[in-house]
Amino acid sequence: MLALWRRTALRAPRLAPRTVLWTPRGGLHTPPSAGPGSEELTPLTKHIRDMILATGPITVARYMQLALTSPVGGYYTRGQAFGREGDFVTSPEISQMFGEVLAVWYVMHWEQLGRPERTVFVELGPGRGTLMDDMLRAARRFPAFFATVRGVHLVERSPELRRVQHDRLGCDAKQTRMEADGGAQPVPAQGVSESRGGVAVHWHDLLDSIDLGSSGCVPLVVAHEFFDALPVHKFEKGADGLWHEILVDVAESGSAPVAASGTVRFAGSPPPQPAQGACHFKFVRTRSVTPGAALLLRDKRFDAQFSSGDLVEVSPESARVMVQLADWITRCNGLGLVVDYGQDWTQGDTLRGIKSHRFANPLSSPGSMDLTADVDFSYLRHVAQGRAACHGPVEQGAFLHAMGIQARLEQLLRSARDHAMQKTLVDCYRRLTDPHSMGRVYKVLAVLPSGSTLVPAPFAPQTTADGAAR
Ligand SMILES: C[S@@+](CC[C@H](N)C(=O)[O-])C[C@H]1O[C@@H](n2cnc3c(N)ncnc32)[C@H](O)[C@@H]1O
Repeated sequence: MLALWRRTALRAPRLAPRTVLWTPRGGLHTPPSAGPGSEELTPLTKHIRDMILATGPITVARYMQLALTSPVGGYYTRGQAFGREGDFVTSPEISQMFGEVLAVWYVMHWEQLGRPERTVFVELGPGRGTLMDDMLRAARRFPAFFATVRGVHLVERSPELRRVQHDRLGCDAKQTRMEADGGAQPVPAQGVSESRGGVAVHWHDLLDSIDLGSSGCVPLVVAHEFFDALPVHKFEKGADGLWHEILVDVAESGSAPVAASGTVRFAGSPPPQPAQGACHFKFVRTRSVTPGAALLLRDKRFDAQFSSGDLVEVSPESARVMVQLADWITRCNGLGLVVDYGQDWTQGDTLRGIKSHRFANPLSSPGSMDLTADVDFSYLRHVAQGRAACHGPVEQGAFLHAMGIQARLEQLLRSARDHAMQKTLVDCYRRLTDPHSMGRVYKVLAVLPSGSTLVPAPFAPQTTADGAAR
């Protein structure tokens, strides 16, 4: 491991001002916003309200999808969310060490796969492009590996973030192919990263549109803080023993069904959400069983371990992406890492809004804040069962330590120009690895081809040949 790090002795540490300020995407608790009517409705709030008034309450998943990715002012569509001035800071934005460690993981396993001749990096939800930029920079230190990289595929729906990623990866505008996305300005579809060795960069709305079938390229996939942004359905177990879906209704509506009540607390859950009612929308609970409940909670595990008043969150969109990913990795002999916050079991009440580094009422002012729910890693493994070999999850702190983050920190400390920079580096390292910060709640799941005998680092001590059979 140390030998690998020696080859990545790159440059002076990045001293990002944003590293000084970090609150997890699940930070502090803020009071709800002012009540309905006290502010003008945004186009998105009006859009969702009109939709509900016309056709009735919508699922939490539909609300979340609209709030995050609607072309009418969805949070990620607008794009400017990250960093000190934004609403949250993610691991790659905290320190370059994060992306470098991940790059070393891919290089190590590329070696173990027998050095395939053609590879591509694929990232789901690349945000500002920082993680991919750091990974490419570190990967260039391994010329034999880097020579195999045929391109980068970024799955990103936000037109604004695509532009940010384009610039971050140093793509030359003259060589960029733009495409119309329905908005006023075209968005990047294909470019060349001049600052990262001339690698071709391709953008996609969906994983489905990446076609590697005929290229023979081995995909090296990373999804960092992607699954937590995918919509969840919420259900509450009633006294009748049935699962009732939690829906979103207009707050002024007098015709609401029974209000959602139960709040089961699992270890690791965030604190309770701010009281609802002081915004344009509210949660309500269906009286009858919805098709969503009938379909999504068919699995036996939802019968036994839950009792009246318990809540569960289920993300069919995550299942859809995970199945695609698993099939793809098996078919193309690839490698995948899913890094996110969450638990290895099903939780019930983790949906929250995040705005200005604090918790916010998720139903207040859709489009103005991030919405996120903890990832259920047991669900991801469950849906990938038989399709790919999942390993983990392991805690982020353990993963980064096993992959040599401390050795990298020491290198950077030696090249730091002053004490202040050294202090920042140590601070960032602690944030990424400390169990009380991001080291425990963030977890890493590795995805390998089904039937692969390779046991990836550092998963060896706790995995089986096919991670599904844990
Ligand atoms: C929380 S950010 C994480 C960004 C980055 N991975 C990081 O850690 O800094 C979520 C990313 O996923 C993208 N995203 C969210 N929902 C998406 C969807 N349904 N399809 C494609 N991208 C999506 C967002 O635009 C954003 O780039």
